[in-house]
Amino acid sequence: MASQTNNTHDPKIIVALDYADEKSAWDLVKKLDPTLCRLKVGKELFTTAGPQFVEALSRSDFGVFLDLKFHDIPNTVAKACRAASNLGVWMLNVHASGGLEMMQAAQQAVNQTANTPLLIGVTVLTSMDQDGLNKIGIQTDLTMHVLNLAKLTKQAGLDGVVCSALETPLLHEQFGKDFCLVTPGIRPDNANRDDQSRVVTPSAALHMGSSYLVIGRPITQAADPLKALKTIHTECQSTYKHH
Ligand code: C5P
Repeated sequence: MASQTNNTHDPKIIVALDYADEKSAWDLVKKLDPTLCRLKVGKELFTTAGPQFVEALSRSDFGVFLDLKFHDIPNTVAKACRAASNLGVWMLNVHASGGLEMMQAAQQAVNQTANTPLLIGVTVLTSMDQDGLNKIGIQTDLTMHVLNLAKLTKQAGLDGVVCSALETPLLHEQFGKDFCLVTPGIRPDNANRDDQSRVVTPSAALHMGSSYLVIGRPITQAADPLKALKTIHTECQSTYKHH
């Protein structure tokens, strides 16, 4: 298991760099403060900007969450995780539904690299509902399925899961504070909801047990992204003080 605090500040906010090209991403990154946030690179930006971009971003002071959600046979995922770890990222993820063996192979592979990032399992995508789950042949209740996949993730020795903030109280109670819960769908009270329907404020998410908050548009689309980041950071800090 990797250290969750490989940065003295351990900022809780992960800004989603949902951009189609490297230049737009750098333009935003230059405005942000690495003591207040980390950065998430997803499939679109990775596919256009490539591993060199991720490596350069990781060499800057920002911790990078490489959100590629690997899911394949154990040997392939292990090699992909090793390659990702060697880019210097702070966090990466795999689909828990790839199974115990796949997750164990992934964990073993990152343990063998000089940089040991946090390795996180994706349980059930929040775009999936009970009907969608039934249609792929899974008749289990959705929350139970999330819980089962989180148990498997923990058993494989991974550091935590990506989950909806609404699932955090249950997962926090089951697995304790050392199991990292990474939650998207976060909106400050005054922010536009965009296409997110079930949203939670940053402080509510932290209260419910979230370890890290993935936040995109409330920061990336703000007129002053640094100001938006600072406001959310201040809200998070006061949550900790009152914990
Ligand atoms: O702009 P916004 O804050 O909605 O961005 C959230 C980020 O988290 C995006 O990168 C999105 O793909 C990701 N995400 C999500 N909901 C999930 C899983 C990931 O919004 N269930």
